[in-house]
Amino acid sequence: MAWKPMARVDEVEPGEVKGYRIDTIPVALYNLDGEFFATHDTCTHAQACLSDGYLEDGKIECPLHQGLFDVRTGKAVSGPVDVDVKTFPVRVEGDEVLIDLA
Ligand code: FES
Repeated sequence: MAWKPMARVDEVEPGEVKGYRIDTIPVALYNLDGEFFATHDTCTHAQACLSDGYLEDGKIECPLHQGLFDVRTGKAVSGPVDVDVKTFPVRVEGDEVLIDLA
């Protein structure tokens, strides 16, 4: 594991998603009731930016065609998306969220 700092914990409030670029990789960071999850920030359907989407009940709705992904697993749960989005391990250390891009 190669953990690297990605954000301060107070940058993404509970129920919010925010987009980052870490080592040139677009990453969406989600805060689900204080627990953080990260996925690749590009929709697997037609390249929309997932962090511009709508987060509810642990799922991100793509802003372009309203495909749904489970942000905990990356699973594509509702069309038109049928390819899962990559997830990344994250953990909190002090006031920082760390991510492993490996
Ligand atoms: Fe995301 Fe089409 S680009 S559902």
